[in-house]
Amino acid sequence: MSPRPIILDCDPGQDDAMAILLALASGEEIDLLGITTVAGNVPLELTQTNARKICELAGRTDMPVFAGCSRPILRKLVTAEYVHGKTGLDGTDLPAPTMPLQETHSVDFIVDTVMARPEGAVTLCPIGPLTNVALAMVKRPEIIPRLQEIVLMGGAMAEGNTTPAAEFNIYVDPHAARVVFESGVPITMLGLDVTHQALVTEERLAAIRDLDTPVTNAVVGLLDFFNRYDRERYAIPGAPLHDPCVIAYLLKPELFDGRDCHVAVETESELTMGATLVDWWGLHGKGTTARVINAVDADGFFSLLTERLARL
Ligand code: RIB
Ligand code: CA
Repeated sequence: MSPRPIILDCDPGQDDAMAILLALASGEEIDLLGITTVAGNVPLELTQTNARKICELAGRTDMPVFAGCSRPILRKLVTAEYVHGKTGLDGTDLPAPTMPLQETHSVDFIVDTVMARPEGAVTLCPIGPLTNVALAMVKRPEIIPRLQEIVLMGGAMAEGNTTPAAEFNIYVDPHAARVVFESGVPITMLGLDVTHQALVTEERLAAIRDLDTPVTNAVVGLLDFFNRYDRERYAIPGAPLHDPCVIAYLLKPELFDGRDCHVAVETESELTMGATLVDWWGLHGKGTTARVINAVDADGFFSLLTERLARL
């Protein structure tokens, strides 16, 4: 089977970095057409730099990296240095990138790529705020019926991680999230309900540390740093490894489970701004707008991640 063409839209971020590495290590199944970056965990200047640092770590200076939106559509940018550190990739000291940043804007790369390829040929994998994806849909609505699917990390059925109601990616740009969730594109949503089952425990980190390669040694530093906030905050044995769940879902969907639901995004109330209201029991009778993933075989996920990291 030919590899699946995807665009990874991200805000690196240590967990975004793991998603990039997993995709780069899986060339037989995934054709990574490009990496588009957006402001989120840290400002855009850093997310686009960090994406290039990770590509160079993996020896992939050929991978096109694009800079996108530097702020949400309406709201002020909220960042998460408290989780990811000042650089967004605290925990290891990667050299400044030498590979160039592409001239094209992320939004234009998404539009141009989807319009240039056959209908239903491109999957978008957003793992940061949805600003780039939403603006691509607004700029060129013709991409909407042409997209195969959107597989995203974001949202939550239960409690949020940024406010009691909202998960970070959706909270940062709830208006963009509404545009995407209301677009009609087939969506698979991997929210906190599933990512909080994929914890970077000491045992799982040790398995990566045992590989002892330049890439995995950098990964261990990144994940060691990434672990500290959530471990303390939630008194759990490791941080939830959110973003690579999206790539793992593409590689081994059998590791995951979920249900087709109606998902609505709160953009009115400041109290619940950015909440994703998942109608798990179909109470609203409004049909379904996303496949909401709520379970993962965590050991299977980390075995896949570890095995693929060893290839880089
Ligand atoms: O809430 C977790 C999500 O927000 C992850 O994608 C993390 O990288 C941040 O972007
Ligand atoms: Ca992210």
